[in-house]
Amino acid sequence: DLFSEIKRLEDMFMVDTTKLKAITDHFVSELAKGLTKEGGSIPMNATWCMSFPTGYETGTFLALDMGGTNLRVCEINLPEEQGEFDIIQSKYRMPEELKTGTADELWGYVADCLQQFIEYHHEGEKLDKLPLGFTFSYPATQEHIDHGVLQRWTKGFDIEGVEGHDVVPQFEAALEERGVPIKLTALINDTTGTLIASHYTDDEMMIGCIFGTGCNAAYMEHAGEVGKLAHLNLDPKQEIAINCEWGAFDNEHKILPRTQYDVIIDKDSPRPGQQSFEKMIAGLYLGEIFRLILVDLYAQPHVRIFENQDISSLQKPYSLDASFLSDIENDPYENLQETHDNFVQQLGIKTTKPELELIRRMAELIGTRAARLSACGVAAICKKKGYKTAHVGADGSVFNKYPHFKARGAQALKEILDWEKDRDGKRLGRGRDPVEILPAEDGSGVGAALIAALTIKRVQDGL
Ligand code: BG6
Ligand code: GLC
Repeated sequence: DLFSEIKRLEDMFMVDTTKLKAITDHFVSELAKGLTKEGGSIPMNATWCMSFPTGYETGTFLALDMGGTNLRVCEINLPEEQGEFDIIQSKYRMPEELKTGTADELWGYVADCLQQFIEYHHEGEKLDKLPLGFTFSYPATQEHIDHGVLQRWTKGFDIEGVEGHDVVPQFEAALEERGVPIKLTALINDTTGTLIASHYTDDEMMIGCIFGTGCNAAYMEHAGEVGKLAHLNLDPKQEIAINCEWGAFDNEHKILPRTQYDVIIDKDSPRPGQQSFEKMIAGLYLGEIFRLILVDLYAQPHVRIFENQDISSLQKPYSLDASFLSDIENDPYENLQETHDNFVQQLGIKTTKPELELIRRMAELIGTRAARLSACGVAAICKKKGYKTAHVGADGSVFNKYPHFKARGAQALKEILDWEKDRDGKRLGRGRDPVEILPAEDGSGVGAALIAALTIKRVQDGL
């Protein structure tokens, strides 16, 4: 019956404290391994962003954000006043077809949006080439900051002719063709932008995280810790931001409690075997995990769910997104009326009371697992760096919109890092947590502009 199904799903999806700690410990060693010459499954990409901002950066910069959901173009002015900024921006839709189209279509579309932005905001002006910080939120190998070879597409993108190539000349060729007056100054990741922008307004911010369509983090490392850069003889104390690309954690399936549903998500994705951690927690996958469970339960006659109903709409892959789950968790009614109505409207399925209870519990289990596993990554960076206290700047649709994500993450951090407990294990109930995950400053706008400013300064200083 449905009750025993709930129990079975709880056993599959609940991650207890002991497991969280074991995952975190393995995570710490994988982060370190990623920094070595041999490497591991976490890429730990050097970003060539070599310092935090001082707050005295100045100038006008363009920023382009190509993260997956939206395409955003901003113009940011960093005035003389420390820690201030002005921003104007336009958002463009990122058409779904582009994600699996051709490279020419992708870069053409991006360049067209930039051109539109410039024509609109600088009509009739004679412009020198404007410096641009391009937030390209995919794993890239960078030899310098205005260069980046795409390691692989993530987040469901699958465009031929880009993986294994430097994306900068492809992008610049599209600008050139259209005569768009822009000079790419820095290619950055959204997590690096988040780290730098957050530190600009709060100097306790030590980690930048994205919990959105994808999931990832960046932090500042000492060059001396980055074995794979040893041949460059950098000053060991030199800071360099590392884009972890932690979505790839545990690609070898040693520790994460994967379920049969996670296995299907991976197998049916454009890049099987990649982004194991991300596929269990990021927004792109949460609705799909939920859908796969329902389809599986329906296929088992003894479970008797949605009996005599046509579930063909539910059978379409990726037909439910994370906001569908969010709405279930947010349903304010005791009888789950909104969830009932959503099932009728979106899927043409009428639900009974016990079915609704199962559905709500499933959403809680999936959302809670995502938050708790994410916390392992944050705890691992803190442990690796020896941070006893820190602020973590977080952005992305899951962090900003998914109900209880923040509280569940904070709870998991507490369990992993053993706070607020005296020797008898009793809660002490102090004020604020030593490591707090807080809403970030705009990474792909202000962060990208700051990194462009820092880069220009570094070049001027001959570093
Ligand atoms: C945005 C940031 O707010 O969050 C982007 O500006 C980032 O840089 C994005 O990529 C991630 O969230 P989502 O939910 O759009 O993937
Ligand atoms: C994916 C990308 C990564 C990005 C993250 C969040 O994990 O590979 O570069 O930071 O999504 O957008």
